[in-house]
Amino acid sequence: MAVTDPLVPEPRYQSGFGNTLESEALPGALPVGRNSPQRVPYGLYAEQVSGTAFTAPRAANRRSWLYRIRPGAMHGAFEQIDEGLIVSDFSQVPPTPPSQMRWDPLPVDPTPTDFIDGWVTMAGHGDPGSHAGCAIHQYAANRSMHARFFYDADGELLIVPQQGRLRVRTEFGVLDVVPHEIVVIPRGIRFQVDLPDTRAEGGPQDDARGYVCENFGAPLRLPDLGPIGSNGLANPRDFLSPVAAYEDREGDFTLVAKFLGHLWEAPIDHSPLDVVAWHGNHVPYKYDLRRFNTIGSISFDHPDPSIFLVLQSVTDTPGVDAIDFVIFPPRILAMQDTFRPPWFHRNVASEFMGLIHGAYDAKAHGFAPGGASLHNMMTGHGPDADTFEAASAADTSKAHYLTDTMAFMVETRLPLRVTRYALETPRRQADYPSCWATLKKHFHV
Ligand SMILES: [Fe+2]
Repeated sequence: MAVTDPLVPEPRYQSGFGNTLESEALPGALPVGRNSPQRVPYGLYAEQVSGTAFTAPRAANRRSWLYRIRPGAMHGAFEQIDEGLIVSDFSQVPPTPPSQMRWDPLPVDPTPTDFIDGWVTMAGHGDPGSHAGCAIHQYAANRSMHARFFYDADGELLIVPQQGRLRVRTEFGVLDVVPHEIVVIPRGIRFQVDLPDTRAEGGPQDDARGYVCENFGAPLRLPDLGPIGSNGLANPRDFLSPVAAYEDREGDFTLVAKFLGHLWEAPIDHSPLDVVAWHGNHVPYKYDLRRFNTIGSISFDHPDPSIFLVLQSVTDTPGVDAIDFVIFPPRILAMQDTFRPPWFHRNVASEFMGLIHGAYDAKAHGFAPGGASLHNMMTGHGPDADTFEAASAADTSKAHYLTDTMAFMVETRLPLRVTRYALETPRRQADYPSCWATLKKHFHV
């Protein structure tokens, strides 16, 4: 049966983070007063999808009820398919040297590549089978997914577009996501990605690129603010979830699953995006990083980068996160008598960085938008030689306006193991550590 693309409604959103939302695409479709009534309005099926243990404390509990045309169980048997350069078993990667590493952006791939085909895994740790750790991927794609749908049972997906808009059609509705925005797809939620800005789909760009942090552990949440107070950093009202938008389509589709580190494909004769109404808090959301309320020093010195924390995946150890998603947005550097870029440092945490736009203030050269860098646990790093000299001589009696930048960091509790692809690709800048080689000896007595 031929597959035709759906008529996609203009995305509409509702705001909030972690609270229970609800939406219905047809009036009266959402049952009231009973989660699973004997007969759902419009002849829909009721289905619950849970993202945390049933008995998780209320503040951490994530689940949604879906009222849909067909239940999620209706599809054929899964068969394993080629997973390309996707890696989830980090016990099998080559030994990772503790070197500083940096990579150029992904090259344009002229062959038809959809969002799922376009992943390459750079680094990660842990294991999806034990709900611990993460994988960090980059993607470059040039086609919409058209006849195939995807869900990731291994983890929650934090997607960071760097180039090209993503139209993410999910069981919960449609999200349009542009660079400078992020989108989070909860574990197990089915979706499809259209790439309306690529040439193959009638747009102006060769491809769409970005980053994916696949979080095997606890769902991302907003951090507590402590002495900062009730406002600041990422504010809950700026997180946007879709409203219900269902597809009633039949055809020869496939459902691709990522499960226990591998990709699997099953035939499905209808669109699984057939949810007419829903309520719950296990929902996809997007966030515009430009709405981040940056906090910083207005006297001297600068705080640790945790001040730039957007989202965190917590562990059982209070204060120690499995993943911190941190951004370095445009901001005003006002602290005086201070070396304003990041200082030289070595951390117990490991830092994978990407650049969405502009330039990063700790590097004068070599870190391009779409590129990446990794400074693993206890590996020394910091400003390159040119940045150090310039910042050491800067007049700090005046504020410095950092305007043309948007970088992010995925900081992990455990060291990141680098994939064979990331170690051997020609994108890797073999001379990266030399950016510190010309630092002068200033010592004098
Ligand atoms: Fe760092």
